[in-house]
Amino acid sequence: MTKEQMKEKLGELLTDHRYSHSLGVVETAVKMAEIFGANVEKTEIAALLHDCAKQIPHTTQLEMCKEYGIPLDEVKEKELGLLHAELGAYMAERDFGITDTEILDAIRYHTLGRERMTTMEKILYLADIVEPNRKEFEGLAELRQLCFKDLDRALLYGFGLTISHTNRRGHILHNQTIDAEKYIREKLRKEENILDQENAFEKAALAVKVLDKKKAADVKLLKVSDLTILADYFIICSAGSSTQVKALADNVEDEFAKEGIHPIAKEGKGGNEWMLLDYGDVIIHIFYKEMREFYGLDKLWNDAQSIDINAITAE
Ligand SMILES: [Fe+2]
Ligand SMILES: [Fe+2]
Repeated sequence: MTKEQMKEKLGELLTDHRYSHSLGVVETAVKMAEIFGANVEKTEIAALLHDCAKQIPHTTQLEMCKEYGIPLDEVKEKELGLLHAELGAYMAERDFGITDTEILDAIRYHTLGRERMTTMEKILYLADIVEPNRKEFEGLAELRQLCFKDLDRALLYGFGLTISHTNRRGHILHNQTIDAEKYIREKLRKEENILDQENAFEKAALAVKVLDKKKAADVKLLKVSDLTILADYFIICSAGSSTQVKALADNVEDEFAKEGIHPIAKEGKGGNEWMLLDYGDVIIHIFYKEMREFYGLDKLWNDAQSIDINAITAE
């Protein structure tokens, strides 16, 4: 079936309002597919057909689902508005000749979502909410912006809106949506954590470079994130005099300041025998060399993973 034939058939199945909505979803979904690298052609078809079952009366939809063996559950049997998505996938295959599972899944999951959604599924789920014909509601403008910038964040935001909307209207929330929301939230949290870790390492590497360049002795970089919540990295080094302790600390501070990073805390102990610069996830200890052993920090953090700094200083 050509796209034109599909449109013609769809026009017969849907009211003008629903048909315009579908074209609005196509417009938005195609733009998003181009941005996020989904197959544009397939996304367009999924968007066009996503609501093909929507106009069928709810009770008939329920009967059809039973007849075609579409899996039902307690919530779906009560919230009949949910059925058109899976029924739509069935009809897209039977009546529109779509066999591509990516397209069918995008249609199937466009109202409930699911864990591990494909890019196309995410796009259709969101385009359905933000297409240009949608009436204004709280959060729509923000979601629209996010939809063209950050797909996963948009999805999380979209789920949030759906969940509060469902609750407000007294509908029952389906577990599949709750799980989908949890999944994407956790995915984003993990990614953020990795980013934080990478940032911390970059900071630590910068400090190591400065200290090495300014002739700090015996520079040690320890990864302590598994041992303490104090920081991700400790740097310990020695200086030949208390004057050098101070000079090293000043140098690190200056270089970090150039990057717009300032210490949360700065401490000098024993008349510059030990200076500590606390950059949150990276803490730098600069010792007058006679004092390093006395304070015993190296021993204290013996279990920490020691990172070879040669690769950093050689850069
Ligand atoms: Fe729908
Ligand atoms: Fe829709």
